[in-house]
Amino acid sequence: IWTMHNFAEATIADFKARLGGKKVLCALSGGVDSSVVALLLHKAIGPDLHCIFVDNGLLRAGEVNEVSNVFREVFGVNLVVAKAAELFLSRLAGVVDPEQKRRIIGHTFIEVFEAEAKKIGKVDYLAQGTLYPDVIESVSFRGPSAVIKSHHNVGGLPEHMKMELVEPLRELFKDECREVGRELGLPETIVGRQPFPGPGLAIRIMGEVSGPKLATLRQADGIVLEEMRAAGLYDKVWQSFAVLVPVKTVGVMGDERTYEDVIALRVVDSVDAMTADWTRVPYQVLATISSRIINEVAGVNRVVLDISSKPPATIEWE
Ligand code: XMP
Repeated sequence: IWTMHNFAEATIADFKARLGGKKVLCALSGGVDSSVVALLLHKAIGPDLHCIFVDNGLLRAGEVNEVSNVFREVFGVNLVVAKAAELFLSRLAGVVDPEQKRRIIGHTFIEVFEAEAKKIGKVDYLAQGTLYPDVIESVSFRGPSAVIKSHHNVGGLPEHMKMELVEPLRELFKDECREVGRELGLPETIVGRQPFPGPGLAIRIMGEVSGPKLATLRQADGIVLEEMRAAGLYDKVWQSFAVLVPVKTVGVMGDERTYEDVIALRVVDSVDAMTADWTRVPYQVLATISSRIINEVAGVNRVVLDISSKPPATIEWE
């Protein structure tokens, strides 16, 4: 029978039989999909699995430490963290166009990943966390006119890096993938994680990305996530996050006039990200998020709420 318990066991057994003695490379992103793939492989081939986590400097608060802690310390996975924040930031300097940001981040990711992979030597397979909806979407969105936002989850590797792919989740939906994660003992902080785009915080900073802007957004976003969790809403919504709008507005703090940036709050309900509705977050939660951001985050004096549905708005602002 088709249960996620059976799926996990069968996949691990199959990997043991097929991949024994082979080296497998896996790009760990910290998201549910790649985490589940890494654990399935780890349970099957242990040290022959080589995971690479690229710290692009565009991740959420605490994410790098959490991922490296869970995979290295808790599960004993063979994981290298490639620290590349400075490189990504330098490549993004002066870039304002969203699709250009995505391309640069995609290319830089491959470059860093490749450099790290070279140190491992000859590798036989590349593991990817492609889900069933990714397979469908990458087919139906093909062709430049149909591309709404480029997706670099599927394919994207240069010709010479094209190893044979291992994609154990190709037939699974997201909720099934989560169930497999639970079966494998993946902590709820990772299994229940909201989707997070590959280009990360870079597409939540309107216009040019910089170190200080990233720090501001990361802190504000951390507050949003903390308060959504505290209110028991984090698991109920599809995504909840902050967007940095680097437009100065006037405020007043004590006797002082302030002239600072805007943070927008985006919270949406969705089943597949193709359509989404803005979440009617209780006023009390909105109030707490707003006052905490304004009081705690330097350089922000105004918080606004995004009340747009998809379509016509997209979930991300870029
Ligand atoms: P939009 O903004 O198009 O987003 O409504 C739909 C879902 O996709 C995520 N998203 C991305 N994920 N690379 C990704 O891996 C991207 O470039 C990208 N752009 C959007 C978004 O967070 C939402 O869940």
